[in-house]
Amino acid sequence: MKSPNISDNVEALNRDMANKNLGGHWQLGLESYLSYPETTVQPCLWKWKDVYESLMRAGEVVSMEEAERRTVRLLNPALRDRQATTHTIHFSFQYVKTGEHARPHRHTAAAFRFILNGSGAYTTVNGQKCVMEEGDLILTPQLSWHDHTNDSGKPIIWLDGLDIPLVQSLQQLLFEPHPENAQRVEKTSEEVAISYGHGRPAGASAAEFFHYKWSDTYRRLNALVEAAAPDRFDGYLLEYRNPTTEGPTMPTIQCALSLLRPGQETQGHRHTSTVIYHAFRGSGSSFVGEERFDWKAGDSFVVPLWYPHRHVNGGASEEAILFSMSDAPVLRSLGLYREESAGV
Ligand SMILES: [Fe+2]
Ligand SMILES: [Fe+2]
Repeated sequence: MKSPNISDNVEALNRDMANKNLGGHWQLGLESYLSYPETTVQPCLWKWKDVYESLMRAGEVVSMEEAERRTVRLLNPALRDRQATTHTIHFSFQYVKTGEHARPHRHTAAAFRFILNGSGAYTTVNGQKCVMEEGDLILTPQLSWHDHTNDSGKPIIWLDGLDIPLVQSLQQLLFEPHPENAQRVEKTSEEVAISYGHGRPAGASAAEFFHYKWSDTYRRLNALVEAAAPDRFDGYLLEYRNPTTEGPTMPTIQCALSLLRPGQETQGHRHTSTVIYHAFRGSGSSFVGEERFDWKAGDSFVVPLWYPHRHVNGGASEEAILFSMSDAPVLRSLGLYREESAGV
């Protein structure tokens, strides 16, 4: 009788181990080891016209009662099974008509809203009333109660950014409705902001600063343009920092603005963080891997991790401002953040 050869022996071992929920390292194959990070997220551009039309139609047919939040979500075509913009961070657009109220709730996913269109509505975060103006950034960190009220007399649209895909993959996603229909307002974000001017009172907590006003942000952005050289990869880059820790916007999320002056071009680079951009003002082009995205105000696009990218404001007279959300704080805290120049 013929004795079994080595590969028959290995196959028999693999089979027997599989029955015991075991596997050998030799079964993985060397091709599973790459010398660079690989992502399944795809570069993608979403046009404002499509988002806006969908929001308006949702405004006609989807009530606040049945939706909890009336949002249109950006879905990456390569992540259909996950229904998310990227593998870690996510963008949605929310439309609240005048007279509408979105009930309070909280969740372990951190979120923010960046106000695009309309003003005078307010969100209440842990009892703090934040009245919205275009360009404001309002944070709802992990497990903070938030509800939205639009009594401004006109509709409002904002951008919601969330770390929900990350929290989901960590199997930490929790959601809790508030027992009441609206939170009681205990203070306003203006009152809190006074404490964060040229210093802060002893005991001031990062946990109560939620509202970055556009008037302050834009003044700082202009001061940066006047006083400093642009970042070679991001133009005039202003990051939203936590005012008490100087750390990222939230533990999992970095928000920033990039201003490109007329004719300005950045150099190409790539990094292990993933970024979602929203064109807030002006127009331009971004080169992401093999793709060229021509964008104007209202459009959004994804730069997946390790894709080389650069940005151009080809216009002759108008500045361009890109709002961005990145998962860089997660990569940094895990020791996985890397960045390098890369032609594109
Ligand atoms: Fe929420
Ligand atoms: Fe970048």
